[in-house]
Amino acid sequence: MIVFVVNRLWISSLLLLYCGVCYAFDPPDVYLIDCGSSSDTQLGSNRTFISDTSSTQYLSASDKILASTNASFITSGGDSELYKTARIFTRSSTYTFSITQSGRLWIRLYFYPFVYQRFDMKSANFTVSTQKNVLLGNFSPTNATVKEFSVVVSSGDLTIQFAPANNSFAFVNALEVVSVPDTLIANDAILVSPKGAYQGLTSHAMETVARVNMGGPLVTYVNDTLWRTWLPDSSFLKEPNLAKSVVKVASVRYPQEGEGPTEDTAPQTVYGSCTRMNSEGDPNSNFNVTWEFPVDPSFQYLARFHFCDIVSTGPNQLVFSIYADSWDVFKDLELSSKVFGGNLATPYFMDYVIPSTENNILRISIGPSSTSLDNNAILNGLEIMKINNSVGSLSGAISSLPPIPSSGSKSNVGVIVGVSIGVSALLVLVGILFCLYRRRKQEQLGHSKTWVPLSLGGGNSRTMGSKYSKGTTVSVDTNLSYRIPFAALQEATNNFDESWVIGVGGFGKVYKGVLNNDGTKVAVKRGNPRSHQGLAEFRTEIEMLSQFRHRHLVSLIGYCDEKNEMILVYEYMESGTLKSHLYGSDLPSMSWKQRLEICIGSARGLHYLHTGYAKAVIHRDVKSANILLNEKFLAKVADFGLSKTGPELDQTHVSTAVKGSFGYLDPEYFRRQQLTEKSDVYSFGVVLFEVLCARAVIDPTLPRDKVNLAEWAMKWQKKGQLEQIIDPNLAGNIRPDSLRKYAETAEKCLADYGVDRPSMGDVLWNLEYALQLQEAAVQSDPDENSTNLIGELSPQVGDFTHADAGASAVHIEMSNSDDLSDVSLSKVFSQLVKSEMKSEDR
Ligand SMILES: *[C@@H]1O[C@H](CO)[C@@H](O)[C@H](O)[C@H]1NC(C)=O
Ligand SMILES: *[C@@H]1O[C@H](CO)[C@@H](O)[C@H](O)[C@H]1NC(C)=O
Ligand SMILES: *[C@@H]1O[C@H](CO)[C@@H](O)[C@H](O)[C@H]1NC(C)=O
Ligand SMILES: *[C@@H]1O[C@H](CO)[C@@H](O)[C@H](O)[C@H]1NC(C)=O
Ligand SMILES: *[C@@H]1O[C@H](CO)[C@@H](O)[C@H](O)[C@H]1NC(C)=O
Ligand SMILES: *[C@@H]1O[C@H](CO)[C@@H](O)[C@H](O)[C@H]1NC(C)=O
Ligand SMILES: *[C@@H]1O[C@H](CO)[C@@H](O)[C@H](O)[C@H]1NC(C)=O
Ligand SMILES: *[C@@H]1O[C@H](CO)[C@@H](O)[C@H](O)[C@H]1NC(C)=O
Repeated sequence: MIVFVVNRLWISSLLLLYCGVCYAFDPPDVYLIDCGSSSDTQLGSNRTFISDTSSTQYLSASDKILASTNASFITSGGDSELYKTARIFTRSSTYTFSITQSGRLWIRLYFYPFVYQRFDMKSANFTVSTQKNVLLGNFSPTNATVKEFSVVVSSGDLTIQFAPANNSFAFVNALEVVSVPDTLIANDAILVSPKGAYQGLTSHAMETVARVNMGGPLVTYVNDTLWRTWLPDSSFLKEPNLAKSVVKVASVRYPQEGEGPTEDTAPQTVYGSCTRMNSEGDPNSNFNVTWEFPVDPSFQYLARFHFCDIVSTGPNQLVFSIYADSWDVFKDLELSSKVFGGNLATPYFMDYVIPSTENNILRISIGPSSTSLDNNAILNGLEIMKINNSVGSLSGAISSLPPIPSSGSKSNVGVIVGVSIGVSALLVLVGILFCLYRRRKQEQLGHSKTWVPLSLGGGNSRTMGSKYSKGTTVSVDTNLSYRIPFAALQEATNNFDESWVIGVGGFGKVYKGVLNNDGTKVAVKRGNPRSHQGLAEFRTEIEMLSQFRHRHLVSLIGYCDEKNEMILVYEYMESGTLKSHLYGSDLPSMSWKQRLEICIGSARGLHYLHTGYAKAVIHRDVKSANILLNEKFLAKVADFGLSKTGPELDQTHVSTAVKGSFGYLDPEYFRRQQLTEKSDVYSFGVVLFEVLCARAVIDPTLPRDKVNLAEWAMKWQKKGQLEQIIDPNLAGNIRPDSLRKYAETAEKCLADYGVDRPSMGDVLWNLEYALQLQEAAVQSDPDENSTNLIGELSPQVGDFTHADAGASAVHIEMSNSDDLSDVSLSKVFSQLVKSEMKSEDR
């Protein structure tokens, strides 16, 4: 539910983000002034800077010193005309502009110091500020320069004050105030370190530190719908010989309206050129291309990276990483997976906030990914924007408001306040980070190597199984051999040592432990203090686990219900969850064969659940986090807390609650309010796509059309181009026939109606077939209708080892999954199970 809401919010913010920039932007507020000039100055076809005379209505408390020079020079930006005149302020003076539409505005200030009468503008020293922000503090321009700021005005007027320092003066050659499209700067970005969400950009003032067109020419206001200037990157490159530029402007295809960047985000010239690694001589090149930008220490910076893959000849070729200083910004970026439809040459951008440092130089690097086929990396454009500090200033020199020229003591206080706030925030962050790190470490520690078979009371599980299938009591006390004394568990877990916790789930904490009698490593799941709901779930799990014995199902070592405790004891699963091997971790990528074998194993487990007993048992929470792997990557289905027997029992009880995990949930559930075995088949189909694409089932950080894996994958499968979105690590390693069979199977699992979905047995057969195709064991043409042939081919399917496990060995796993998707709405479930128990008891 939570995920759902977040997702919805996210989508609506996306819509908001893009709609405003669909068409050429018509700014509601525009003020252009050519200061000191006696006549209007027209730049380009459409941009008229009014004369100083016309602008006096905006100006207060100024003496009228209009300077002009006839020096002839040309600035690269094509705005030379503006530099020929200036207005000089010997005392504090303020421009006031009335703003019709609240929001973000650009303030562009043009400076060119020349000598006019007694004023040598190179010696000017002044502060520029708005009501809320110091833009420039003790500023002394030394050559032609444009300073661009963007400030947020909530309503009413924007004032811009020019305040000379003691015994000095201020000047400005031209001034521009123009609305920014609301959608250009979103509220959210990602903080580079510590990695996380950064929110609140819409309330910050910013200064543009760099706006660079990588690998391309200077782009001036003429070619930018928002009158921005983009500099070429050559002067920022640390080692120009490592870089190479590529220009293919005509190939750029902006995404459809609402799907991504527009011309307003960055012009085609920017997206149509890039700087790439100069690696063609050596396909194994491994180096970074680095740009260096001068920055003020102690400020945060918003970095917007613009990409457009104009170098690849096919999707999934280009995988690379981005760094800022020594931080990872993005590891293994695969552009074709980010853009709409996976099309090449489609613009895409990403916003990151870079934390403040003590450095004067910000290094941005790109380098090849270890997972890429071609060692290459590109960057098309980059904007770096300084974010105001905690007192609203963009100037290192002056940090407090109101700006009082040469108020040494006051600004010191500001700096000190700013620094100490920064430091305490940092301490808190470091603390949080440390805790997370420890937790992670412990989780990793949790995976032990030893696997000691434990012999339990043999055939007892069968007795229980038959009891259960008669639908009698859920009491589990009949099998005392599963009971483990509380004292033994205290000993095994170092008295439930908090530092031995390896996972936390809805049910409670999971501890690692070692059974004292024989040294078996175990996972001890200790329920929260006994509640009726938890108790029901506890009993269900014991019931399920102790009666279902199968090579591909988790089993139980024992339980403890002394002293109101609810403890379940499993064995460690060496290799953790399937999910952790697919994404979100540093674990090595698995081969296609390995993945197929895991899918086959889990399909066997589920097939057994559905058919192994008189009544079908529905797992109800099939997901990659509930598929665990042992040290040999043998897959086992885990987490039976939610399981219950099939539809016959369900009808009256299952009507209102939501089940399972978001992203895996059978859509038919919404129509019929009922879960069947085919619901598991649906969820398993989602897992199949997850395995193929190695991405989260719901990923709200992706473009709208990709958020939901099931939808996205089905779209590509229907187009017959599923290979476009598969895990790049698999590219080139899957036989097309195998992929086709696999994808067809997954697609059938996701059929809208349960009746159209294959049975778990059919799925199993088809996956085995896909494995055979991969291993080229099948010579003849694959039979298109093989889904229906399951009955004729059952020997493999029927190869269950259920119920004989007790004699040989009990395989125990733990579920250490604890992410959002694992908050499995267990409360609701327990209630259901409980009400069902009651009705059965009657
Ligand atoms: C450009 O000029 C045209 C006609 O003069 C006007 O309609 C349009 O709004 C102007 N665009 C901008 C961005 O000022
Ligand atoms: C340039 O301006 C100075 C005074 O500012 C004037 O004496 C000189 O004649 C001007 N030169 C030209 C070429 O206009
Ligand atoms: C700006 O001034 C600095 C010295 O203050 C000088 O090194 C640099 O070349 C000048 N830049 C331009 C574009 O004139
Ligand atoms: C800018 O636009 C003009 C026409 O408006 C075009 O001739 C020129 O090539 C463009 N320059 C760049 C760098 O795109
Ligand atoms: C690229 O830069 C990052 C960050 O500084 C660094 O971790 C990485 O090792 C560099 N890669 C190469 C190949 O030098
Ligand atoms: C920037 O200034 C605003 C007030 O103008 C303040 O609310 C915000 O917190 C400041 N940003 C940062 C990063 O401190
Ligand atoms: C600025 O000038 C005033 C008056 O001349 C003086 O009182 C003040 O100390 C000066 N401030 C600084 C920082 O020099
Ligand atoms: C500008 O004035 C301030 C205060 O009077 C002074 O601290 C600073 O050094 C001056 N800056 C320059 C470049 O002269």
